[in-house]
Amino acid sequence: MLERLKQLEVEALTEVSNVPGLKELNDLRIKYLGKKGPIQEVMKNMKDMDPEERKSVGQISNQVKAVISQEIETKKEALEAEAIALQLANETIDVTLPGRMPAIGTIHPLQAILSELEELFIAMGYTVEEGPEVEWDHYNFELLNLPKGHPARDMQDSFYITEESLLRTHTSPVQARTLLAAKGKGPIKIICPGKVYRRDDDDATHSHQFTQIEGLVIGEDITMADLKGTLLELVRKMFGADREIRLRPSFFPFTEPSVEVDVTCSKCNGSGCSICKGTGWIEILGAGMVHPNVLEMSGFDSKKYQGFAFGIGAERIAMLKHGIEDIRNFYTNDLRFIAQFK
Ligand code: PHE
Repeated sequence: MLERLKQLEVEALTEVSNVPGLKELNDLRIKYLGKKGPIQEVMKNMKDMDPEERKSVGQISNQVKAVISQEIETKKEALEAEAIALQLANETIDVTLPGRMPAIGTIHPLQAILSELEELFIAMGYTVEEGPEVEWDHYNFELLNLPKGHPARDMQDSFYITEESLLRTHTSPVQARTLLAAKGKGPIKIICPGKVYRRDDDDATHSHQFTQIEGLVIGEDITMADLKGTLLELVRKMFGADREIRLRPSFFPFTEPSVEVDVTCSKCNGSGCSICKGTGWIEILGAGMVHPNVLEMSGFDSKKYQGFAFGIGAERIAMLKHGIEDIRNFYTNDLRFIAQFK
């Protein structure tokens, strides 16, 4: 019996040491240490042995079992470590490879102009208002002193939706909306940035949709000097501290007097070049003192209140500032164009 046990131990240890993998190792465990294994078989016969023999066979059986079991455990750890090492070797990553950078967006040049202007006007105590892009004829024209049939309506060729509604042709209807909301009581200091629409054949300098920033200031002692000071502030912020402006008489039905505002050309500094067409000046916006009719129609006493208004073309400002030659660049969203304005 003891012979047989010793022999089983040697056999088992040889098999364990030659086992190729974890699965086969588990098979060996069942084969030698399982309920139907040879050691168990030997132990079954113990009941027929004399006590002396039974004792030593019992001891040796347990020892052999422990040795085999220990050996299987050691082998198992070795095989597992080997498997991990192999996996690590196969799955190496090169941590020095440069990563894939996500594309980082840039602020659209038009949006940058709007933000810059909003910041400037908020600092001067203005609030930012909004109005609908689909507007009533009433606000877009009539409350701005442009009754139906007024010839000046032709200045702004419109996209009508119905007889009474259209895509707003300027941000000036927000003047009327703001005045009405104030119910005859000043002061008012607002700007309104937004999209406007006019029937136009698109080319390098025309677009059927563009962006304006409207300004409206109403108070009891507002003069044209306030308008001029405000515009000078605006122009110097946008184009540089050494810019000058000049006001030329013009006409808008909703302002009286009306002016067109020019800024000294930042390319030639006033001496004349191709950008300013040799004049030294570039036109950048329309403005004026709010017409008494506009105030009265929206419930303000024009004896008590006066004010000024202006309308700036945001694309035009951006084009002058960055030397952009084609207005369509703002809308075609070519990333190569937009990404230049970091
Ligand atoms: N609404 C005018 C335009 O679009 C600009 C303007 C605004 C002029 C306010 C005077 C006062 O042409």
